[in-house]
Amino acid sequence: MANLSYLASLTPRETWHLLRRRLPLMRGGPAWTAGELLSSAKHSRGIRFAELLLRQEAVLRQHLPWEPLEFAGRRVVEIGCGPLAGFGPLAVFCGASSFESAEPEWDAGLFFSDAVAEKYLRVFHADLVALYGARMKFWDFLKALAARMSIHRAGFEHSPITGPIDIVLSQSCIEHVFPLEATIEKLAAIQTPQTRFLHLVDFGNHYPTASPFDGLYDGPPEAYIAKRGKAINLLREPDVLSLFARHGIAARSVPSRVLPQPAAIHPWWRERYDDAALTTQLALIAGPA
Ligand SMILES: C[S@@+](CC[C@H](N)C(=O)[O-])C[C@H]1O[C@@H](n2cnc3c(N)ncnc32)[C@H](O)[C@@H]1O
Repeated sequence: MANLSYLASLTPRETWHLLRRRLPLMRGGPAWTAGELLSSAKHSRGIRFAELLLRQEAVLRQHLPWEPLEFAGRRVVEIGCGPLAGFGPLAVFCGASSFESAEPEWDAGLFFSDAVAEKYLRVFHADLVALYGARMKFWDFLKALAARMSIHRAGFEHSPITGPIDIVLSQSCIEHVFPLEATIEKLAAIQTPQTRFLHLVDFGNHYPTASPFDGLYDGPPEAYIAKRGKAINLLREPDVLSLFARHGIAARSVPSRVLPQPAAIHPWWRERYDDAALTTQLALIAGPA
């Protein structure tokens, strides 16, 4: 059993959010609020998405002749962008002709609120100007977001997004999707062989435990999900890759964090996966270079 003592360090609202995602009986709790997002160390930093992209592309270049993603004039899609539109503001600032996402927790009223504009987007814009140059003024940035972003409050698999799409992204989303097959089927429907994509998948337990694999391999996945709720699907990197292959999408996987094995691994896992699959916490599923 993973050590859950870190729960004591969270605010009551953070604890509620975390439990709501993990325990089936508690789902349907409060939606995100601007105050909660803007005081979160993670969510309040929009430039985090540029940092993630720069890091992930640098990791890819260690293994592939990966050319940086160019957003200018491109149709961009993100699966599960999160409550503050994920890569959307970055893509639009860099000239994307459209940014579409499907996010079950999307609340357009919250995103387009004054609080988010003043405390989140203003700083994000200043950081984008510093990183990519003064491509647009703040008010033009806000207008471009309103004109070019469409985010559907839905699962990606049920969303009205149609192709052909030039660039598809996701950040720590694929491991949360149940069932993943319908999502990959949808990707196959909107992608062409030229569509460039980059998905960061986190195969860890999503708890701040000493090892991200603590508790994950104690028994078969159904037992873990029955105990902890439908927060992560427990697919491993080879499962994700074979889903892409089954749907005709040529994808490469590049590990971006490999950690030591946990002490105990139940035979269910040993019988199905090699050491690489069991020790890869973060992987980039990407293509074409
Ligand atoms: C860990 S969060 C990551 C959010 C965001 N990408 C980020 O990095 O901040 C996972 C996200 O996946 C979304 N999600 C879960 N199932 C989904 C589905 N079927 N389609 C689209 N998004 C989904 C959740 O609502 C959640 O916002």
